[in-house]
Amino acid sequence: MGKRAAVEDGRIVAISGMSRSGKTSFAVRALNGFERVVIWDPDDELSKRARAVRFDRLGDLIAALRRAQDGPLRACYVPANMTRKALIAAFGLWSRSAFAWCVDYGGPVAVLADELADVSNAGKAPEGWGQLIRRGAKHGLNTFAISQRWSEADKTTLGNAARMVAFRASNTLESEYVAQRFRGVQAQELEDLRMKSYIELDRWTGARYEGVVNPAKDG
Ligand SMILES: Nc1ncnc2c1ncn2[C@@H]1O[C@H](COP(=O)(O)OP(=O)(O)OP(=O)(O)O)[C@@H](O)[C@H]1O
Ligand SMILES: [Mg+2]
Repeated sequence: MGKRAAVEDGRIVAISGMSRSGKTSFAVRALNGFERVVIWDPDDELSKRARAVRFDRLGDLIAALRRAQDGPLRACYVPANMTRKALIAAFGLWSRSAFAWCVDYGGPVAVLADELADVSNAGKAPEGWGQLIRRGAKHGLNTFAISQRWSEADKTTLGNAARMVAFRASNTLESEYVAQRFRGVQAQELEDLRMKSYIELDRWTGARYEGVVNPAKDG
């Protein structure tokens, strides 16, 4: 391995909103800026939408990451066994693989985890994922974490998120949960958003942006 340039810090972006509100479309658009991408894709939709190579065995994913070294690769892993226990185990190993790829070969790497509530609960982050969240950014890992139900997903992810991209919330529990954790937005605004529209909040600067995704164009 050669000498490495200084790595720019990555960041964690959390994405919320009800089903079909635009979360995955936003993430796909955000991934366009990266050549090295690892995706957790339980809905088996991102190989097409994000032009990624599809893997349904973790061993194959790990081998491909190792072969790619510090070169470009957009890899998407589709878990085959969807029982909760199997999903959580696979998610831990997937997280470790993505983290190791970035640490061993260098960033920037982007990671997308679609639907976190399937694999975490309101308590502590699952092993592997917790480490990625706590330590990834300083190695140049950019993490996009999606959930329809942040109130049921792990606290570590939202607690470390530099940005929140909030699409329409389906209920008050969810809208209040997000609004209480990020300055600059009211719960009611999140419930009133049009589908595919979002409010983006920067935790550190307090800046707020509004935007719309176009799935037909962005993916
Ligand atoms: N290629 C496409 N062309 C046109 N519309 C699309 C395309 N892909 C998705 N859509 C539509 O865009 C909307 C937002 O889709 P998206 O997949 O981003 O939602 P989501 O928030 O990720 O939903 P979910 O929580 O169900 O995964 C949906 O109405 C969907 O049917
Ligand atoms: Mg989605």
